[in-house]
Amino acid sequence: MPALTILRYPDPRLHKVAQPVAAVDDRLRELIDRMLETMYEAQGIGLAATQVDVHQRLIVIDVSEERNEPLVLVNPEIVWASPDKRLGEEGCLSVPGIYDGVERSLAVKVRALDREGREQTIEAEGILAVCIQHEMDHLQGKVFVEYLSMFKRGRIKTKMAKLQREDERYAQQG
Ligand code: NI
Repeated sequence: MPALTILRYPDPRLHKVAQPVAAVDDRLRELIDRMLETMYEAQGIGLAATQVDVHQRLIVIDVSEERNEPLVLVNPEIVWASPDKRLGEEGCLSVPGIYDGVERSLAVKVRALDREGREQTIEAEGILAVCIQHEMDHLQGKVFVEYLSMFKRGRIKTKMAKLQREDERYAQQG
């Protein structure tokens, strides 16, 4: 199966708000598998369905060193977030090559369904907590660069446009 295409900022489709998943069935599991494959291929630690132009509340994550601990969150809800926050550097598969600081809760508790439709509650801290918050933002149509100043965002848009032109040139050359 070919990997899915990841939308790039500032594609307006990244700002759509995802709808709840109606049923955890084989069709959804096929999408989950393709999203995991796409995330691993792109060497990311998380991918929200929004980023592959599917506007449903679905996230895949793997923050393990060995890249063998996939976490699937269907209809995730953050039920608790620590008031303690920390500024940490983030990147995003939809904004390649850009890394900048975002303030996030140190720990979160999230409730979601897994790939079998079973309810799970995850208590996360560190990189996993950051990743969950970043991916949950995608489901709300929010990309991390929107936390940055307008000046920085403008520069990022210019860089993304340049990258797009380079990619198109590369594609033409075959
Ligand atoms: Ni992202």
